Amino acid sequence: MKRIFSLILVCMMTFSLAGCSAGDSRAAESSAAMESGVGRENGAVSESSAAAENDTVAENSLAAETSELPAGEASADTLIIYFSCTGNTKAAAEEIQRQTGADMFEIVPEIPYTAEDLNYNDDDSRANQEQSDDSARPAISGSIDNFDSYEIVFVGYPIWWGTLPKIVNTLLDTYDFSGKTVIPFCTSGGSGIGTSVSAIREAEPEASVLDGLRVGDTSDIAGWLEEVLP
Ligand SMILES: Cc1cc2nc3c(=O)[nH]c(=O)nc-3n(C[C@H](O)[C@H](O)[C@H](O)COP(=O)(O)O)c2cc1C
Repeated sequence: MKRIFSLILVCMMTFSLAGCSAGDSRAAESSAAMESGVGRENGAVSESSAAAENDTVAENSLAAETSELPAGEASADTLIIYFSCTGNTKAAAEEIQRQTGADMFEIVPEIPYTAEDLNYNDDDSRANQEQSDDSARPAISGSIDNFDSYEIVFVGYPIWWGTLPKIVNTLLDTYDFSGKTVIPFCTSGGSGIGTSVSAIREAEPEASVLDGLRVGDTSDIAGWLEEVLP
């Protein structure tokens, strides 16, 4: 069963990430980013390119950042958490912050992911090893201040092998989301968000977890926010 699921995933990724060579994960990631079409109009392309040019692709700042929107538009009870290695999910998170003025926290791995780590064509790559290990919980650098004070928490991530990157499980294990509204969002080369949302619900049974959005383009975000925010 697991083998069949893996085969389906491989086929899906082969189609959605067409053009990626096995030996060049950086090219693969760029291709995936191109396929996902996220945030072309707000600088996502240059951020993705910048990330792709570095050996260490997860290198964004550790600290929770505060919106520069006028105070009146900021929502003090809302937090945006995201994980992003090549910039796509970061672009989506930044657009949500621009629209909401919410605080933002980036999940930064204690050990950054290199391009080799992200090579999904290599069974032995770090990402693939982690995704196939249910107990893997890669460490997160830094911590979220005053997590208890937030009622609405956006959680954004890239889809890895159909679901959450294991470092998002680390986040879910670390913080108590009970009683909070969790709003997932993701980017991907084509896979939907559904399986990852089920994983969040399983990890946080006392939270209200919305269906979430796979962000194909940041222009999708404004309308979606009108639907999901009170
Ligand atoms: C290890 C790994 C596994 C991935 N698995 C999938 C997948 O199952 N389905 C898919 O559509 N895309 C998959 N992708 C592509 C990413 O979801 C996509 O490129 C995403 O937009 C990257 O987000 P980021 O730039 O924020 O890191 C995978 C990428 C990596 C590195």
